[in-house]
Formats: sequence, structure tokens, C-alpha cells
Amino acid sequence: MAQSTAQHAARPQALALNGGDPVFKTPVPFMSLALTPEDKAAAMGVLDSGMLRQGPKCAELEKRFSMATGAKHAHTCANGTCALQLAYEPLLQPGDEVLVCAWTYIATASMIVARGCKPVWADCLPDTYQIDVADAEKRITPKTMAIAATHVYGMPVDIDAVEALAKKHNLKIIYDAAQAHLATYKGKGLGEFGDAVTYSFYATKNLGTGEGGMITTNDDDLSFKIQRLRSHGESDTKYLHESIGYNYRMNDITAAIGCSRMDRLGEQTDRRREIAARYNERIADVQGVATPVTTPGAEPVWHLYTLRLEEGAMSCDRDAFCAALKAEGVPTAVHYPLSLTEQPAFKGFVTDHPPVARSIAKGVFSLPIHHDLSDEQVDKIADAVAKVAGAYRA
Ligand SMILES: Cc1ncc(COP(=O)(O)O)c(C=O)c1O
Repeated sequence: MAQSTAQHAARPQALALNGGDPVFKTPVPFMSLALTPEDKAAAMGVLDSGMLRQGPKCAELEKRFSMATGAKHAHTCANGTCALQLAYEPLLQPGDEVLVCAWTYIATASMIVARGCKPVWADCLPDTYQIDVADAEKRITPKTMAIAATHVYGMPVDIDAVEALAKKHNLKIIYDAAQAHLATYKGKGLGEFGDAVTYSFYATKNLGTGEGGMITTNDDDLSFKIQRLRSHGESDTKYLHESIGYNYRMNDITAAIGCSRMDRLGEQTDRRREIAARYNERIADVQGVATPVTTPGAEPVWHLYTLRLEEGAMSCDRDAFCAALKAEGVPTAVHYPLSLTEQPAFKGFVTDHPPVARSIAKGVFSLPIHHDLSDEQVDKIADAVAKVAGAYRA
């Protein structure tokens, strides 16, 4: 493997971009989203029953999800953004400062703003791309009340460090596990940690239902509040509303697809892990391309397999590199093109740009990773990365 990489480096084949033969004649799919006959039958079962609203299938998904993640309570909801809102609202007060990494999807931070709180940006670590807890600590003020930590790409953050920081400064912890279904830390499910953990079941997630979300918690009181908030603050008495709330409920059609997909999630996660290990091994020797580094103690679920072009290592930029991979039949995606402090939406909440997050945004790109990829496809994708890197190395 290392040998073929070295050959590419020494003698790059003509890139498909320049008229050479592509590695794949037919592009390899970036993701695998199709419903199986079982998924469709599960959805049809609900349609046939006429019980289209939140009902027994939501309850089943909640039960299975709490067991799978090690949490006491689980609550379905409409999507991962609502899940964050439902977790933030009871845990935060307007005006609170909340530590959040500049390297995450927008929703983790935008819902802090939606709660009337102030996001305080921490940098990410240069190897795992997860929140840099030491940097976060430097930004704590008397107004800092919580930390919102995302397990970006399906890679758990350094949970020991987050918990130690929270304990020292009396902070609430919300983990955004939208990309990290079934990930573990030191052998424990992610639901065992923090005040609340939120998930997304958006179509492309490891467990995708189209739209959908979940919040887990081990706190009985918080669980009660989340349930109330999800459905207009309604008490056990119909149309008696104890508090202001939302309609953030899931429906049973969605939940039935979720339950059906959960049957395969464990085995599909294992396959993602095999693929990530295979990519790591085959791409490790490709100079100028950084492979992902795992947080010690974490077992990621590889929602994304993200490489990074090291600064100055290539004679082209990341976008040209990805265009060359595309010509080889390897689609890529960029997670993310900007750090959050560079997003126009957060103008007014930014005093400085955490440098690591800003710098990695220029170099990262994600390769296809999903259960339908064969070993042969994985090897050829790795070869394509080596081929393009060989051609463009500075
Ligand atoms: C880290 C993270 N948080 C939150 C969300 C929001 O989830 P949803 O799209 O289901 O609202 C996503 C979705 O992409 C995400 O990746």
C-alpha cells in the first residue's frame, strides 16, 4: 500500500482533469441514502394504521435510542435544531455566555443566539478538530454558564476535559451529537455524559429519517421540562397549558423509518469504522494530506471522513484539489468552508477569530464514507487521493 502511494508520488499519472484516465470511470457515490423494503414497509404500516401523529413508533424509537446511547430519557423531536432549542431553553437564561467551538455546524451556535445568549468562541484542536477545552477555559467570565460541545464528524470530544472544566466553573454541559449516533467514550454511550445530548436524523446522518431529532438526558426534571416544551407546555390535562412551548414533535411515519433503520445502524457503523481504518492506513503515507486523529478514549462513528491539505503542501488550493478528485470519479464535500466566527450571521458576536478553526477551513475536505462502499472502492479512492496529491505536491 505504502509502495503504491510512493509510486504515485514519484511518478504521478496524468490527471483525469488533464485528459488522463480517471481512477473511476463511473463516479463512486458520496453517500448511501436509499430506503430498504423494510424501511418502506415500516412507513406503510403507519400509513395503514392512520396513526400519523406522535404515537407508539415515537415511543419505540425513544426507548431504543435511550438504551443504545446509555441515557435514562430520550425525547423525539422535529429535527436536530429543535433538539438544541429544547435542551438550551430550560438550561440557559437570556444573557448567559455559552462556550462553543468555532468549528461546528451553525445550529449549535445559532440556537444559543436564539435563546438570547452570547456564544463565546473557543478554538478547535489542530489534530482532532474538536473543541480545545484549554482555550475555552481562557474565555470564561462570571457570565459563562454553559458549554455546548459538538462531537464534530462523529468523533467524540475530550469528554473528561469538558467535564473537568464544567465541574471547576459550575457550567451546564450540552453535547451536540447530531453527527455521532452510537459513538462511545471510554466504553460508555454518549448519553451517559452531560446535562443533555442532542441528535439530528436529517436525511444524510448515520441514522437518517428525512428530518428528525432526539434529546437525551439523565435528569428527571429536565426530561419533564423538555417534554412539556416540545408540545406547547401542555399538561396531562388536554388544552391546559402550564407554560409557553412549541410544536416540535416528531410523527410516527418518521419514527417508524427511524426504528427500521436502527436495526441496521450497529452493523453500518462497524462498516464505517472499517472503512475509516482502511483509509487511514492507505492515506497515512501521502505527504501533505493529514488523516483524521481520534480523541484518546473515543470510538468515533465516522459520520464524515475528513482529510486536510496541510498548509503550503500543495501547489493548488483545496477547491482545485477536490475538482481533480471529482474528475477521477471521487466526489468530495467541504465541512466546513468557513469557521463560525467568519459567518456573516454571527457578525456582532465576534471579537476575534480562533486561528486553528480559521486555518483548517481552507484545507479540509470529506471523502465518501458509507456502508455500501466495497474495499475495492475504498482502495481506489485512496489511490485517487495519492494520485492527485502526487500531481500537485508543492
Ligand atoms: C452538528 C450539528 N448540529 C445540529 C444540526 C442540526 O440538525 P437538523 O438539520 O436536523 O436541524 C446538524 C445538522 O446538520 C449538525 O450537523
